[in-house]
Amino acid sequence: MYRRVSILMRKHFVSVLVLCVALIASLSVRAADPAKGKALFQQNCASCHNVHKKVTGPALKGVEERWSDKKLLHQWIHNSGSVIAAGDPYAVALFNEYGKQAMPGFPSFSDADIDDILAYIDAESKVDVTAKTDGPTATKGGEDSGNNSLLFGIITLILAIVALILMQINSNLNKLAADKDGLAVSEPVPFYKNKAYIALTILILFVVGGYFTINGAIGLGRQKDYMPEQPIFYSHKVHAGINQISCLYCHAGAEKSKHAMIPSENICMNCHKTITDYNGPELFTAEGKKVNGSAEIQKLFDAVGFDKETKTYTKPGKPIEWTKIHNLPDHVYFNHSQHVVAGKQQCQTCHGAITEMDEVHQFAELSMGWCVNCHRTTKVQFADNKYYSIFEQFHQQVKEGKIDSVTVEMVGGTECQKCHY
Ligand code: HEC
Ligand code: HEC
Ligand code: HEC
Ligand code: HEC
Ligand code: HEC
Ligand code: HEC
Repeated sequence: MYRRVSILMRKHFVSVLVLCVALIASLSVRAADPAKGKALFQQNCASCHNVHKKVTGPALKGVEERWSDKKLLHQWIHNSGSVIAAGDPYAVALFNEYGKQAMPGFPSFSDADIDDILAYIDAESKVDVTAKTDGPTATKGGEDSGNNSLLFGIITLILAIVALILMQINSNLNKLAADKDGLAVSEPVPFYKNKAYIALTILILFVVGGYFTINGAIGLGRQKDYMPEQPIFYSHKVHAGINQISCLYCHAGAEKSKHAMIPSENICMNCHKTITDYNGPELFTAEGKKVNGSAEIQKLFDAVGFDKETKTYTKPGKPIEWTKIHNLPDHVYFNHSQHVVAGKQQCQTCHGAITEMDEVHQFAELSMGWCVNCHRTTKVQFADNKYYSIFEQFHQQVKEGKIDSVTVEMVGGTECQKCHY
């Protein structure tokens, strides 16, 4: 009797194991999702790229065929500068063709994110833009691959049901065999009362629930894409884009200190003493409301107490209360000059295509993973840099050709105390 029970248990154990493996496999098989890719593309790439036509950057139709190696293409999107620095001939030629304009990197993107974007580009590439029927075809291309995950789900469900049925048959057969031998068997337990199934269900709920709870908790206080309404509709596109004012003219701190800093009003007035009206291209808020540029400049004058008719300051000014967009928690240490001067990182890598934004929004996630991933993949200016002369071992290895570069991680960029007070 005991032997039989133990054999029975072993058999069930195997079926349950099979079921679990099938479930886990289906959860980890993830098809590239062009719908997600489309959202990412429109948020991060559409300001410079179109699938079919050249904008600031090249048309991306068929881009995967132009790259010899998918890994290299991923690296390009993570950090195009590193591919150019490595001297890949195609990347260098492209860079030169586009006036040596560096594309902002996207180090925070996971490989899955990039696959999603590439899937979207691929689906969109198949759309014939010359034909007028672009609506239906556009969605069809997307749906084809989008259905994959649904398909996997259905297959898993079928497999799970088959496994359940097999387990039931197995237990019935065992019972029959026991009956035949004249052994006493207990009444069959319906599956919803079966302790093994109940335990399994609870376990799955616990794991899935825990996953979402923890992810939600980690995300608390993060605010990617945060775009508050500012007291003055001040457009970076007009200033840093169309009029090409250097970022450092206003954010001089970025090169010298921890903080980039927001310019004071007298910096604005250096120009706006003479520029009293706005005659540039029409401006719109994110909601599509039209903005009167001259009225916005008047708000600046009201704040500083400037009369534009007599060109004199008539009353004491008060500071403009800009709303801060980027906010790292107090326990994190981040220094601009270290990244901009020593690390030679572009503002756009971390802040996105600011010169295309009327209203600034938070481009990067500002999560710990975002910082650490970039430190893992970005190389430091290692040779002939006195700051790194103490890393004799790496210098030796570079000389011997054992390593060809040193990443931020290797010089301590992922040590907790470097970023945490
Ligand atoms: C600020 C403008 C800008 C943004 C934003 C931008 N790119 Fe680019 N991209 C460029 C430029 C310019 C080039 C041409 C190469 C160069 O000058 O470095 C390029 C080149 C590329 C290439 C190589 C194209 C080819 O023909 O081989 C790919 C792929 C690419 N970008 C993908 C992306 C993706 C994906 C995103 C969004 C996640 C993105 N880019 C966002 C400007 C941009
Ligand atoms: C003429 C002055 C001026 C120039 C030039 C300028 N900025 Fe700004 N920037 C401001 C002002 C004013 C604010 C605060 C209002 C706002 O957020 O729009 C600001 C805000 C920002 C913010 C958001 C700060 C926060 O609150 O977290 C970032 C990021 C930024 N600028 C980056 C840049 C980059 C990158 C460039 C160059 C491409 C640039 N700025 C050029 C004046 C300027
Ligand atoms: C390596 C990523 C990175 C680079 C490169 C970078 N920034 Fe920042 N920037 C940040 C982070 C992170 C914050 C949030 C800092 C905080 O909350 O303490 C920030 C905040 C800001 C702010 C808000 C005010 C402040 O100082 O906190 C401005 C303005 C700004 N950056 C402008 C710039 C400009 C201009 C450049 C290029 C010269 C630049 N940044 C380059 C990551 C970067
Ligand atoms: C280096 C010169 C310069 C500085 C500094 C400057 N501006 Fe401007 N500003 C311009 C120019 C040029 C225009 C566009 C005028 C046109 O096209 O008719 C403009 C347009 C504007 C407009 C109307 C368009 C829009 O963006 O809504 C506002 C508002 C404005 N500036 C506010 C500011 C504020 C606030 C500051 C300080 C943070 C500032 N400007 C600093 C040169 C400057
Ligand atoms: C775009 C890539 C990039 C991102 C994103 C980035 N860093 Fe860095 N970071 C660098 C580079 C490059 C250096 C090396 C600078 C140098 O050579 O001194 C560096 C260096 C540092 C150092 C000094 C490390 C050392 O060993 O001395 C600290 C601290 C740091 N980063 C903090 C942060 C924090 C905090 C964040 C996120 C809020 C962040 N970084 C995001 C590229 C990045
Ligand atoms: C490159 C910079 C960097 C390094 C290295 C780093 N952290 Fe962080 N850490 C951050 C940033 C940025 C945040 C804020 C994330 C947020 O606001 O979501 C953070 C947040 C945290 C938090 C709060 C929980 C959370 O996710 O918000 C803990 C705990 C933490 N870090 C522990 C560590 C430990 C332990 C190490 C060493 C193994 C470490 N960190 C190394 C940048 C770093």
